[in-house]
Amino acid sequence: MQFTVETAEPADAEEMADVHVRTWREAYAGLVDPAFLAGLRTEPRLRMWSTLLLRPDPERGSIVRVARSEDRGLIGFASLTLRPWPPSPPIEDPTSAGSLPPPAEPGNPDRAAGTDVANTDPGAELRTLYVIQDWWDRGVGRALLQSVLREADTRGVRWVDLWVLEANTRARRFYERAGFALDGGWQSEEIATGVFLDEVRYRGDLENLPRRG
Ligand SMILES: CC(C)(COP(=O)(O)OP(=O)(O)OC[C@H]1O[C@@H](n2cnc3c(N)ncnc32)[C@H](O)[C@@H]1OP(=O)(O)O)[C@@H](O)C(=O)NCCC(=O)NCCS
Repeated sequence: MQFTVETAEPADAEEMADVHVRTWREAYAGLVDPAFLAGLRTEPRLRMWSTLLLRPDPERGSIVRVARSEDRGLIGFASLTLRPWPPSPPIEDPTSAGSLPPPAEPGNPDRAAGTDVANTDPGAELRTLYVIQDWWDRGVGRALLQSVLREADTRGVRWVDLWVLEANTRARRFYERAGFALDGGWQSEEIATGVFLDEVRYRGDLENLPRRG
C-alpha cells in the first residue's frame, strides 16, 4: 500500500489530533497508566496543532509533515523545532532551568507545539513522530523522519535531539537504526498527578541521519 508525505496544513489539525491520541493509546499501552490513556482528549492537541499550523512563517522554527494513505487518510506525522539562536542571555534566577527549551513530547501536549523563535541555530529537536499501529513497519516513520530532517538540513541544522520513553523499545530501536545515540540525558516528568514518564534523550548529527526519500 502506498502513502505520501506532505507538509502539514492547518486543515490537517483535526486528523493530527485524532492520530495523536490514538497512537498514544496504541504505543503506550502497558507503558503508561491506563486510566491516564483512557482519559486523553483530542481538544488540547487540536488547539496545539491548529495554533502551530495557522502560523506558517518559516522563521517560526517548526517543521511539520504528515503521512497520508488513500484509504485511511492521515496515518502519521512528525514535527521538529529549531532552537533559538543566539541562545537567550543568562537568566538571573540560578534555580531556574535557564534558556533550555521545554522537554519534548511525550508529555503535556500543550507544550509540545514548539517555540516561536527565529531559526538560525544549528540544533533542532524532534518533538513528535507518530504513526498509527496499522501502518507500523511499512516505512512511514522512516519517510516522515527523512522528510523533516531534509528540510532541517536546508535550514542549516547540524544536529537533532529527542526525548523518548525509556520503556519504548520499539521507538528506541527505530531511532538507533536511524543513527541517533543516547547522550546521557534522562528525565522523569509528572504529566498528571502520580503519572510519571521516564524519558531518555537521543542525539544525532544530521550528516549521519537519513535525509533522502
Ligand atoms: C516508532 C515509530 C514512529 C516507527 O515508525 P514506523 O512507521 O513503524 O517505522 P518504519 O516502518 O519506518 O521502520 C520500522 C521498522 O520497519 C522496517 N521496515 C521499514 N519499511 C518496511 C517495509 N516496507 N516492510 C517491512 N519492514 C519495513 C524497518 O526496517 C524498521 O525496522 P527496525 O525498527 O528493526 O529498524 C512508530 O512505531 C510509532 O509511531 N510508534 C508509536 C509512537 C511512538 O512511540 N513514537 C515515538 C515517540 S518519541
